[in-house]
Amino acid sequence: MTQIFAHRGYSAAYAENTMGSFIAAEKAGADGLELDVQLTRDGEIVVIHDEKVNRTTNGSGFVKDFLFKDLRKLNADKNGPKKEPIPSLEEVLEWLKSNKMVCNIEFKNGLIPYEGMEEKVVELVHKYRLEDRIVFSSFNHYSIVYCYRIAPEIETAPLFIEAIYMPWIYSKSIRAKGIHPKHSNISDQVIITTMENGIAVRPYTVNQDRDMKRLFQINCTAIITDDPVKAIKIRETYQKRPLR
Ligand code: G3P
Ligand code: CA
Repeated sequence: MTQIFAHRGYSAAYAENTMGSFIAAEKAGADGLELDVQLTRDGEIVVIHDEKVNRTTNGSGFVKDFLFKDLRKLNADKNGPKKEPIPSLEEVLEWLKSNKMVCNIEFKNGLIPYEGMEEKVVELVHKYRLEDRIVFSSFNHYSIVYCYRIAPEIETAPLFIEAIYMPWIYSKSIRAKGIHPKHSNISDQVIITTMENGIAVRPYTVNQDRDMKRLFQINCTAIITDDPVKAIKIRETYQKRPLR
């Protein structure tokens, strides 16, 4: 059965990358979460998509210039009824221990090469003994190869925007167990052949009914979506749970 990963949590209905959004995704029955990480000035791994806080909070400036205690004062749910702080990765991993979800941690270190970020994330995953439920991804493939070198027990998956030729060969060459392609830039046949080669395929960001249907029909490993509630409903139609 195709797994459903909630992109930045249940971000179709809640403020992205907040605890409220992650908890709602879990309540909705999502199999996994996708979240983005950056690093503060004092070395805290925080869950936020952009290098700057401007778009998603009531503050302004680069995450890298904030002390964690000051970043926590910002509201990551500008339009919501109550304040939601930017979560630390540690807070999310601690909460993950209370459920069975898989968590895809995307390293947002393509523009700013946060030094020591990989080590800090790996240390947290080990601290909470979540090695089996974490997938590291990034558009910065050097970063995930480095993760593999320091923690080969944690799964890695390169992110792609463009279509790449025979992605199963590339992913094997960097010891990745999965790929996270842009859904519109990968064909059914390439998805199927990649999976036949033992590589998980989790396309992003799949929000339209017809795109979900297409991926459920070929039994794709997982989809990454803003709307896990809709995805679960559509999956019911195309993939029946086996009778026990
Ligand atoms: O991990 C899939 C997707 O989140 C990558 O793009 O920009 O939404 O982080 P973006
Ligand atoms: Ca992401």
